[in-house]
Amino acid sequence: MLTTVKAHAKVNLLLGVGPARADGFHELSTVFMALDLFDVLTITPGSGKITVTGRDAHKVPVDGSNLISKAAALFPQVAPVDVAIAKNIPVAGGMAGGSANAAAMLRYLQQAGNLSDAEVLAAAAQLGSDVPFTVVGGVQHGTGRGEKLTPVPCTGEFWFCFALSDKGCSTPEVYATVDKLREQGLAAPTAAQQLDAQLAALAAGDVHALAAAIANDLQPATLALRPDLEPILTYGERQGALAAFISGSGPTIAMLAESKAAAEQLAINVGYMFGVATLVACGPAAGATIQQD
Ligand code: C5P
Repeated sequence: MLTTVKAHAKVNLLLGVGPARADGFHELSTVFMALDLFDVLTITPGSGKITVTGRDAHKVPVDGSNLISKAAALFPQVAPVDVAIAKNIPVAGGMAGGSANAAAMLRYLQQAGNLSDAEVLAAAAQLGSDVPFTVVGGVQHGTGRGEKLTPVPCTGEFWFCFALSDKGCSTPEVYATVDKLREQGLAAPTAAQQLDAQLAALAAGDVHALAAAIANDLQPATLALRPDLEPILTYGERQGALAAFISGSGPTIAMLAESKAAAEQLAINVGYMFGVATLVACGPAAGATIQQD
């Protein structure tokens, strides 16, 4: 018996970051979009072994710290399995690769253990702030730590070029840097003000209006930690990206393009200019999905 599950990456089109809460997390107003960029998990009866192939395979932990193992541990009534991950999503890239893998595992556990959607979503929130979104996918407005989701009406499809980075960013370090910048009167939260404009742009399928409403409060912190990313953002916009921005906590750079062809051209130009790996992906896509073949 073999099950394959697709685990989709995300991009945050809006990432409004409020002050740190008593539990250390930041209150968010974020718009997530799932992408047609995905890892594939192949799940077979086994003993909890994780193997990884693909570009960033060596960066993925295969011990109990992997969110797949943590998801399995929440449902000990389900028989143990081995999981082979075919990795396409950049690791520690701000695209929820680890969270998406956990979401895919939760969909498997739901099927194997006859779990309700409510049980799956509660487990997802326990595993990480981005895991609930990567379970459901589509386009969602996230509040709380990002785990409280409301579907966002969206028309059409949007094309992106992503510029990857060899070195990952630590999400806690980026959030801590935002707090530090704010103590100095810098990096004030402004992104959430774009929410209404962004929801209208998504509903209308208007890529230019969407580009104008994209905002990420984490971007100044990511750039303070990784000043080498700034020239890629500037170059991307000069090469026709409608908006170039940091994806989540980074370091992946997202560039919204006018069309698939424009995204492909950006991928060639940015890759050539900076010697970085690039990807083209479109959204919205589904959440974690069991393959029925
Ligand atoms: O929930 P997750 O484990 O993905 O979060 C990783 C880290 O990112 C947290 O430990 C915290 O430092 C930071 N974070 C935050 N506020 C959020 C989400 C994440 O400060 N809303």
